[in-house]
Amino acid sequence: MKLDGVPSRTIWLEPDGWSIGIIDQTLLPHKIVRPVLKTVEDAARAIKTMQVRGAPLIGVTAAYGVALAMRVDASDASLDNAVAFLGAQRPTAVNLRWALEDLRTTLLPLAPSIRAVAAYARAAELAEDDVETCRNIGVNGLKLIKEIAIRKGGGPVNVLTHCNAGWLACVDWGTATSPIYHAHDAGIPVHIWVDETRPRNQGAALTAFELLQHGVPHSLIADNAGGHFMQAGDVDLVIVGTDRVTANGDVANKIGTYLKALAAHDTRVPFYVALPFSTIDWRTEKGSDIPIEERSEDEVLYVQGKLPNGELGSVLISAEGTHARNPAFDVTPARLVTGFITERGICAASREGLLSLYPEKTSEVA
Ligand code: MRU
Repeated sequence: MKLDGVPSRTIWLEPDGWSIGIIDQTLLPHKIVRPVLKTVEDAARAIKTMQVRGAPLIGVTAAYGVALAMRVDASDASLDNAVAFLGAQRPTAVNLRWALEDLRTTLLPLAPSIRAVAAYARAAELAEDDVETCRNIGVNGLKLIKEIAIRKGGGPVNVLTHCNAGWLACVDWGTATSPIYHAHDAGIPVHIWVDETRPRNQGAALTAFELLQHGVPHSLIADNAGGHFMQAGDVDLVIVGTDRVTANGDVANKIGTYLKALAAHDTRVPFYVALPFSTIDWRTEKGSDIPIEERSEDEVLYVQGKLPNGELGSVLISAEGTHARNPAFDVTPARLVTGFITERGICAASREGLLSLYPEKTSEVA
């Protein structure tokens, strides 16, 4: 997608052929800064501090992190250490584990002398695959938006989304946003309700920014406003992303997703989850088994933004001495999900639904 009019991706190999470029998402939308990762520690820090975030992107960043580790020491011990170290940075998104297991399985049978080259090649392949996967999620999700547009017979299709499951969360296109970009590009009028997504405001800072850059009509709303707009008939469809879908179809996603699913269920608004195959955790049976990341209370107590002097800064929004809790994700039970939009098609949010699209996983499923 475009950043300041220039086609961009969220992660790339620098011209030196070995260091890795990223966009620092903690500074968006106010500053576009592109740090360079040169060590496995840099990659881990970028994931932990959320300079890169979103399930697919942290998977690809971790894959490049392994490549950076292999440049320095390609022994079995170094490979195992890099995989464990990178995997420990964020616990909920299963794409991180998936990418690291992929790299380990690819590299372990190889002679150490060729592991670095192979790691870069595999990381690049995962990045390319992610682009194509997200593109196909968009092609499949477009059908839903088209159907609604035809049924409405005029006016924009109003889609509500939570957090940022856009191209900034992936390598390109995004998951939840890919059907939206495909619809917009096909000339179908869409309007997006963007949940601000407290506490880190990924909706306000990232999704609204993405949509603005691409010219997609949207309105930023406070997290608490979604139910109101659904009751008023102003939401035709909800599409969110996910960090992990368990074998029974339960969905972990950014905190607050569950409340949107409840409101959508009550108001009979279709609630879809867009995901690539790498987000399905076949080995975990149900949502209550998913580890939920707990982040610093400061993310709740302070709000970051652009100060009147143009600098970035943060302000305390409650009394000194107030304590907070900050679970970063929640679990939406499969029964509240209308369906999954994947790169292979749309299916029911259930074990049977998932297996209908991925029959080769039958023997792995929990
Ligand atoms: O904490 P974040 O910003 O990494 O959380 C991101 C989300 O919750 C996204 O919805 C999810 O990763 C899907 S990204 C395509």
